[in-house]
Amino acid sequence: MSTCSASENNVESVVRVVDLRSDTVSLPTPNMRRAIYEAVVGDDVYGEDPTVNELERRSAEMFGKQAALFVPTGTMGNLLAVMVHCSRRGTEAIVGDMAHIFLYEQGGAAQIGGVLLNTIKNQPDGSFDLSELQKKFRGYDVHEPQTALVLVENTHNMCGGKVLQLQWLDDLSKICKEMTAKIHMDGARIFNAAEYLEVPVSRIVRDVDSICFCLSKGLACPVGSVLVGSNDFIKEAHRLRKALGGGMRQVGFLAAAGLCAFDEIIPTLKKDHERARRIAQYIQGMKSPFFKVDVENLHTNIVMIQILTNKIKSCVFGKRLTEVLPRELELGIVDTYGNGISVKVSARDWSFARIVVYTNITDEDIDLAIKKIKYVIEEFESNMK
Ligand SMILES: Cc1ncc(COP(=O)(O)O)c(C=O)c1O
Repeated sequence: MSTCSASENNVESVVRVVDLRSDTVSLPTPNMRRAIYEAVVGDDVYGEDPTVNELERRSAEMFGKQAALFVPTGTMGNLLAVMVHCSRRGTEAIVGDMAHIFLYEQGGAAQIGGVLLNTIKNQPDGSFDLSELQKKFRGYDVHEPQTALVLVENTHNMCGGKVLQLQWLDDLSKICKEMTAKIHMDGARIFNAAEYLEVPVSRIVRDVDSICFCLSKGLACPVGSVLVGSNDFIKEAHRLRKALGGGMRQVGFLAAAGLCAFDEIIPTLKKDHERARRIAQYIQGMKSPFFKVDVENLHTNIVMIQILTNKIKSCVFGKRLTEVLPRELELGIVDTYGNGISVKVSARDWSFARIVVYTNITDEDIDLAIKKIKYVIEEFESNMK
């Protein structure tokens, strides 16, 4: 929750802002801030930062792998994984067409790594068809690149925070072993997946070769991701990290927040899922002909509001949710102090708007968001008559 002066809105008053655009806007907790302040640090490029070393040790242990590497971002972690697994020139990685690595990382695999990304259609649950995958693998034909890697995302952001089923991962792993291809998991929100499945993260990644998870999303840290894998894999990634400009010095200040998140935030992720479900259930209960949420298939902290008509643009809906009009104050669309409510969601030129719940979002924020979303949906419905 935050408040802002409403000069950019339509009324001159204080506005209560509920920011549901992304869990990347989450803020460090007081304990985290204290841990950052008190962190014992050293030069991590020399391997001398004890707090980074501890974060990497605990990460490897938690994931049941040999080693881990602290990196500034998920994007860098994913790129390092692609570059290490596809180190031979002329190799390709197969990736879902809705994957963050394919859509939102600037094609770094090709741009920097010289690796071809070959897409496969993502299914609504974040997986892809495994028989289609088998047909995609390329071997030793002189005309073709060789397939060295399969990339999966768990939870799947653009598929609405979906969790990959363990059976599907097991089947995928069998196929990749037969084809001698590696698997990298973009596990930016892997702890949300573990919460949903009620299994340790080590079970989810049992058969994948590497994983990158983010500290700076639902775990509320200011910066950082961790790449996890075998000793050999991490040794190579560590080398390449320097080339990408990711060799950081007294970075234990950031690692300290990560260690704090392991103990403080991970055990509370269930609450984020429950709060996301509450918004989703409310919208579904409205039975709007134009706005829909698939509550039955809601897994974690991401809610996709589908817009069922092309007469309503997602970005227009999103903008309207942020605005506070004078009539809303008269009608009581306000918080307990009488402030108007501005709800921020992710909405572009999509057929849906995305809501993401994270640790700083309280039950009261959810109540206010519901109040505003209801009002705006009803307004759109009456304008459509
Ligand atoms: C699924 C997924 N992977 C990777 C990333 C990239 O993380 P970063 O912003 O730290 O580069 C994101 C960011 O939102 C993401 O949602």
